[in-house]
Amino acid sequence: PHMRIDVVSIFPSYFDGLTLSLLGRARETGLLDLKVHDLREWTHDRHRTVDDTPYGGGAGMVMKPEPWGDALDQLAVSSEGQPTIIFPSPAGEVFTQATARELATREHLIFGCGRYEGIDERVFEYAASLGEVRLISLGDYVLNGGEVAVMAMTEAIGRLIPGVVGNPESLVEESHEDGLLEYPSYTKPSVWRDRAVPPILLSGNHGAIADWRHEQQLKRTRARRPDLLA
Ligand code: ADE
Repeated sequence: PHMRIDVVSIFPSYFDGLTLSLLGRARETGLLDLKVHDLREWTHDRHRTVDDTPYGGGAGMVMKPEPWGDALDQLAVSSEGQPTIIFPSPAGEVFTQATARELATREHLIFGCGRYEGIDERVFEYAASLGEVRLISLGDYVLNGGEVAVMAMTEAIGRLIPGVVGNPESLVEESHEDGLLEYPSYTKPSVWRDRAVPPILLSGNHGAIADWRHEQQLKRTRARRPDLLA
């Protein structure tokens, strides 16, 4: 199990954090081959221009298609199969744990981070000739660019690659894995600032503990995320 991820961005240093923690170790041990590329490597003019004014008028700038075309060509030809090409966009399908599970099975992901008012639409059409294209939103709010969304998606996907998370059991009892929010957790001391840990957790009765945790999951999900139960 080994996954290749290429990220294209005009702000590659956003991704410095992906050398840390679990994903950093997965990169060192070869489970994850993650490379970050500067889109400006694929510009040819003195100013390394990546954007221009929108046809039809309007506010802001649009990312030019040529650097994107060259970047995708180069990253896709070096792919063993067809890559999955993901463009983070507030106009895309919403990213969920199911999306993360699906994408974690792919051999090669390419993330293209847009900035400004977006990328010339023809880039998405062209990319479809190189692999499966997905426009994916982190949620119903607007970020300044795709970088933070790609950080979040890479972490959610990368931790599902077999071997990245040391104890695979820790993956199954999490929020969203069974469609419910996770149960509350406690550790020592058993009383802290006059607050006691729920006594059932100290009972040693594993069946009763499992039932209590499930009830807590339902109660929390009803209170905080009723949409998940509907
Ligand atoms: N780029 C800007 N906003 C975004 C969002 N909500 N999700 C993904 N990419 C984005």
